[in-house]
Amino acid sequence: MIMVNYDYSIVDASKQQVLFQIGTKGSGKSSFGELVCSTLYSFGWTVLDLWASDNLENAFWCISQKCKDKPEVTDCDCYRRIPITMLAPEYILYDQNRVDAFNDRYFSREPLVEIVKLPRPTATANSTINRRIQEIFRDTVLHCRDHRRVLVFNPKMFPDEKDAFRTLEVLIRKLGDIAYHDFNRLEPEDCNPPKKSRSEMTNFEKCRDKMIVLIRECGEIAPSSRLKTDQSGQPVLVKKALLQFIRKVRHYQISLCTDFQNMMDVESSIRSQCDQWTLRRITKRLAGEEWSWLFKQIDDTRKRIAQDYGGGVKGYVRADKWFPKIEELKQNQAYVIYSNDHVRLWNVGMPPFHHKKPFEKWEKITGIEFDFDESVLTAKGVQEEGKTTDKIIFSLCFEKRNPKNGKRWDFDKIRDYLADEQENGNLTWNVPFKNMKVDTFRANYRRWSKKYEGDGK
Ligand SMILES: Nc1ncnc2c1ncn2[C@@H]1O[C@H](COP(=O)(O)OP(=O)(O)OP(=O)(O)O)[C@@H](O)[C@H]1O
Ligand SMILES: [Mg+2]
Ligand SMILES: [Zn+2]
Repeated sequence: MIMVNYDYSIVDASKQQVLFQIGTKGSGKSSFGELVCSTLYSFGWTVLDLWASDNLENAFWCISQKCKDKPEVTDCDCYRRIPITMLAPEYILYDQNRVDAFNDRYFSREPLVEIVKLPRPTATANSTINRRIQEIFRDTVLHCRDHRRVLVFNPKMFPDEKDAFRTLEVLIRKLGDIAYHDFNRLEPEDCNPPKKSRSEMTNFEKCRDKMIVLIRECGEIAPSSRLKTDQSGQPVLVKKALLQFIRKVRHYQISLCTDFQNMMDVESSIRSQCDQWTLRRITKRLAGEEWSWLFKQIDDTRKRIAQDYGGGVKGYVRADKWFPKIEELKQNQAYVIYSNDHVRLWNVGMPPFHHKKPFEKWEKITGIEFDFDESVLTAKGVQEEGKTTDKIIFSLCFEKRNPKNGKRWDFDKIRDYLADEQENGNLTWNVPFKNMKVDTFRANYRRWSKKYEGDGK
């Protein structure tokens, strides 16, 4: 169990921070990030698990195999399930009955799995569609905060690599805004019922303004410029967005937890933002020059301990216990390096939910399978060429016709609005809205209603 708010705890639930983990493959980097984030989650923080390899590792929050009760399992301690909301592209296909069946299998106040669909992003940064994605994202983040859900983005849900990276970029660019406008500190008098002082507030009330973003395998999305990126070149876009985001997390009051295998995988300007490092088992070579001081410090300390015990075996046994070599750390050991370079060895546990093993498949365990509408995927880039589909235009109109609050818009007002968007290059449509007669526009809307209203919008 992590100690919180204690001198040199592994994680401090009271403040914004940037945490990085490095270690060789399989050394326990990701499970450590999960442990940190689930601890903060239990203090009332909002957790956004925004990147993992395309194996749904970060969707395992909702899975428990009750490993805690199985003495033969030594490398997982799971005992609870945490509800998740998964982001997916509009063209995903799945059987809602299966999702319901999984949700009904376990007693939980909140459905364990929810899926939120996002439109396909466009290349133009500030397009109407991209802004719409950001609005859905904002609503989803707030829903997750208020319903204690973890938000999950995984590239496995986005079979088109470009879509995955572009969507992530669009989301990351919105985070600061969400934090600034919607994650405000709750004062005692704002609580329901109002409290007299902060000490009377619950952890959840105190941490309502706290958010942590978890990014596993940071090297995949923020590759150092020395390295080749994937063919699509998209990580460059995400890298830019991520860089800007990380530079500003302090102002936004958003925390970040991320891991990578090799110091050189990640841009140094990103590395330099880190407040607290966790080293799992790693070799001096992979850790790189930046960490040679620590290897030396640990070596020196080990020698000193050995000498204190007369240079015999006993001394080295002690040294291994108190200051093990970084390249020989056990699965449950980690060195934490604080911002003042203080170093401390910790025995760390596993997260409370099941940590994915390499052979396990989320779909198999949950019975929820995903497929994708091939016709959308193969209709190479309707969006690519900058065209807007009638479905998107319909959903924009539908919103104006059926506002959550306020007055319903008339057709001429909607047409003018679309004409403006068209003029500003935010949507492309073969007919100019500016010259469209209101009657024609209304007729188009009716036609789209028939076509699309059935599927929710
Ligand atoms: N604190 C721990 N106690 C016991 N076993 C652990 C601990 N942390 C990790 N492990 C074991 O190590 C395995 C790998 O952990 P994890 O997936 O976190 O490593 P990783 O460094 O992120 O791996 P990869 O490089 O593949 O992403 C786990 O499945 C678990 O068996
Ligand atoms: Mg990992
Ligand atoms: Zn488990």
